[in-house]
Amino acid sequence: METIIKNTNEDDAFTKAKEILTAGGLVAFPTETVYGLGGNALDPSASAKIYAAKGRPSDNPLIVHISDKNDVYKLAEDVSEAAEKLMDAFWPGPMTIIFKKKDIVPKETTGGLETVAIRMPSHPDAARLISESGLYIAAPSANSSGRPSPSTAAHVIEDLSGKIDMILDGGPVDIGIESSIIDMSGDTPVILRPGFITKSKFEEIIGTVAIDKAIISPDSGIKPKAPGMKYTHYAPKGTLTIVESENDPSSISTNVINEINRLTKDAETANENVVVLTTEENKDKYICKNIILLGKTSSSSEVAKNLYSALRKCDDLGAKIIYSESFYHDELGGAVMNRLLKAAGQRVIKV
Ligand code: TXA
Ligand code: MG
Repeated sequence: METIIKNTNEDDAFTKAKEILTAGGLVAFPTETVYGLGGNALDPSASAKIYAAKGRPSDNPLIVHISDKNDVYKLAEDVSEAAEKLMDAFWPGPMTIIFKKKDIVPKETTGGLETVAIRMPSHPDAARLISESGLYIAAPSANSSGRPSPSTAAHVIEDLSGKIDMILDGGPVDIGIESSIIDMSGDTPVILRPGFITKSKFEEIIGTVAIDKAIISPDSGIKPKAPGMKYTHYAPKGTLTIVESENDPSSISTNVINEINRLTKDAETANENVVVLTTEENKDKYICKNIILLGKTSSSSEVAKNLYSALRKCDDLGAKIIYSESFYHDELGGAVMNRLLKAAGQRVIKV
């Protein structure tokens, strides 16, 4: 299949995208979080194509994207007052809500679940694509399953060119990590995936919110409530290890730097290709030849924005061994660490 690539400011970009989506095809598009791989959410065969293009297990449900808050009532049952408060506070934006689904949402889209994940993105290109196509758009992140989510159209091309009908290039995304997911289908609200909208922002609007236990203790063997959270995601091909301070993981101590330098020396002596992930503040403290910068330690939003390109760059550099600092600067830093720990298969050295 030849993949059409169009900049979102080309005149016919959205008409072509609409044609493809209406005919059951797939279009990748930018959102404020990461690029999504879109198909008609009410068409089971479009969902099947999405799973096939990504190589994604079919028990991992898709998020349905809407461009009008009222569409929620067409797709979901039992929309609570608390959920409506969240919709008013954070939509359009980087928040996905889980509801009980209505029958029109096919099981193929929800991975067999009785619930549906819904998000109204704020990116103008995403909003335009959804409203002009007149469809609800099922869209997972537009990466091959297991690879880091795409923050540029080039990442989508790397993973999916030849496997999907079209890629809309709207430039690099703004946030860089996927939306926060909050489950409002049960008695109490539960965060299933941390993101830009943090626990304290949710709690400002609706009071106490729980976090899925599987996120708090990833080593506990507890099954995550969001099926996709159980997979080792985002992993670069090399072995990634996080090194952090035992006493205060949110600050990079001399011990951390010394340990990364000691490990780098050992690996380089053994002729291994080593990469260190760090920030502006610390970059000159490492002996490693390959340094990848994630922005400033003091800005979790910069680190979030650069994280997935950095993980892809590790592969481009052929890194065999990767060491990273941790980035628990604030709550958003915590969401970044959720992704980084997965990429590291939860490997952490505490010094
Ligand atoms: O920011 C985002 O959310 C991006 C953009 C494209 O919108 N999309 C995205 O989709 O990250 P995906 O498919 O890569 O991640 C969706 C996550 C998966 O972990 C999936 O298991 C979970 O949402 N999910 C979807 N429907 C669910 C449901 N009904 N119940 C629990 N978890 C669900
Ligand atoms: Mg994904």
